[in-house]
Amino acid sequence: MKILVIGSGGREHALVWKLKSSPLIKKIYVAPGNAGISLMATCVDIKVNDLEGLSDFATEKNIDLTVVGPEVPLTLGIVDLFEQKGLRIFGPTKKAAEIEGSKAFAKEFMRKYHIPTASFKILEDKEEALAFARTAAYPVFIKASGLAAGKGAVKANDPEEGCRIVEEIMGEKIFGAAGSRIVIEECLIGQELTVMAFTDGKTIIPMLSSQDHKQIYDGDRGPNTGGMGAYCPTRIVDEQMTQTIVEQILEPTVLGLEKEGRKYKGILYAGLMITRFGPKVIEFNCRFGDPETQAVLPLLHSDLADIFIAIVDGNLNIIEPVWKDGAAACVIMAAKGYPQKAETGQKIEGIRTYRENHAYIFHAGTRKENDDWVTSGGRVLGVTAVNKDLRTALKAVYDTVEKIHFEGAQYRRDIAYQALK
Ligand code: AMP
Ligand code: GLY
Repeated sequence: MKILVIGSGGREHALVWKLKSSPLIKKIYVAPGNAGISLMATCVDIKVNDLEGLSDFATEKNIDLTVVGPEVPLTLGIVDLFEQKGLRIFGPTKKAAEIEGSKAFAKEFMRKYHIPTASFKILEDKEEALAFARTAAYPVFIKASGLAAGKGAVKANDPEEGCRIVEEIMGEKIFGAAGSRIVIEECLIGQELTVMAFTDGKTIIPMLSSQDHKQIYDGDRGPNTGGMGAYCPTRIVDEQMTQTIVEQILEPTVLGLEKEGRKYKGILYAGLMITRFGPKVIEFNCRFGDPETQAVLPLLHSDLADIFIAIVDGNLNIIEPVWKDGAAACVIMAAKGYPQKAETGQKIEGIRTYRENHAYIFHAGTRKENDDWVTSGGRVLGVTAVNKDLRTALKAVYDTVEKIHFEGAQYRRDIAYQALK
C-alpha cells in the first residue's frame, strides 16, 4: 500500500513512525513533512491547505490511503474533495469537522444533544459581548469561535479583564476572523485530560487517556502554547470512568452528528474536565492531538494502518486495538521566544537515536543545513520515552532531553506532575 500523510509536526512524525512498522505499507509520502520525517519517508513540498495540489498528487501517485494530521485541511473539506475524486482518505468531512472548526457550532450541538459541557453564551456583536462581560459570573473563559491554533481561549478573572479580552478579540481582532463570533463560558474546575477515539461513525473505540501541558512554564504558568508535553496513560480515568465518557460524551456526539447529516469518521478528540459533577467537554478536535499523539501511539501495539483502513471501510467493529503495558512521557523542546515570537536558525546538538532510553525523537520545527540540524519553528522536537512505569519513562525522557542542546531551548521540567502528586 502507498500512503500519503498530510502535515509537518511532531504528531505527523509519530504517525509516520508508527505506520512505518506496518507490513501493509510499502511506501510513505508526507506533505510537506519536515527534516526529521524525511529520514523515514519521502517528503513532498505541497502545503496542507493546497487541497487541489494534494489530490492531484494522490491521483498521480496512485495513493491507496491519505491520512490527514492537522485540522485546517479537514475544515477546508479535504475529505469531501478526495472522496469526490474517488480517493481513499482518513478523516471527517468538512461538515463533521465543524465540531472543531466552530466552537459556537460545537457548543450549540452539545446543548441540543445534552452532552455535558460548561454553560455558555455565544456573542456576535461587540457591544452585546461587552455588556455580557460586565455582568458575567467570574472567572470565565472567553474564546474565539474559529480556529486559532489552540491559542484562542483566554481566562478572565473579573469584568475589567473580561471587557479587555472582548475588546482584543472583537475590536483589535487578535485572532483575525476566528474572533468575529465568541463564546463566553463558565470556568470548569477539576482535572483536565484528553481522550481520543477511533470511530467509523458507528463503532467508537477510545484510546488510552493522556494529559497535555498547555502553558509554557512549570506549574502551568505563563501563556498557552500548542502543548509542551504529554504522558499516557493517566490514572484519572479507570474503566468505569472511560465507560461514562463513552456513554455520556463520545457516543451521543458521533450519533448526534450523524443525525445532523454530518457522519463522523476518523479521530474524535475530546478535551475533558473531570469535575465533581462528572466529565464535561472543554473542546472537541477533529484529529489526533499534538503532543498527545507522541505519547499515545508509542503504546499502541496494534497495526495502525489496519485500524485506519477499517475506519475508512466502515468496519471498525472487527478491530480490537491492543495496548502495551507501561507508560510513555513526551517532553516538547521549544525555541527561545515561543509562543510569542520563536527564534529560529539555532544549531541543534545531540540528536541521535537513544535506544538505551527507549526514547524516540519526533521532529516538528527542524531543518537540515549542510550536515547540521537547525531549529526552524516554535515547537522544535518532541522527545518520548516508553518504559515499564511512568517514573521510569520520565527519568529516561529527561535523561535524553538533557543530551540535546540548542541556544535558548525551553522545556518543562514537570511533565506528568499531576500523576506524581
Ligand atoms: P481550548 O482552546 O478551548 O481548548 O482552551 C484551551 C485551554 O484552556 C484548555 O485546554 C483548558 O486548559 C483551558 N480551558 C478552556 N475552557 C475552559 C473552561 N471552560 N474551564 C476551564 N478551563 C478551560
Ligand atoms: N494538544 C492539544 C491539541 O492538539 O489541540
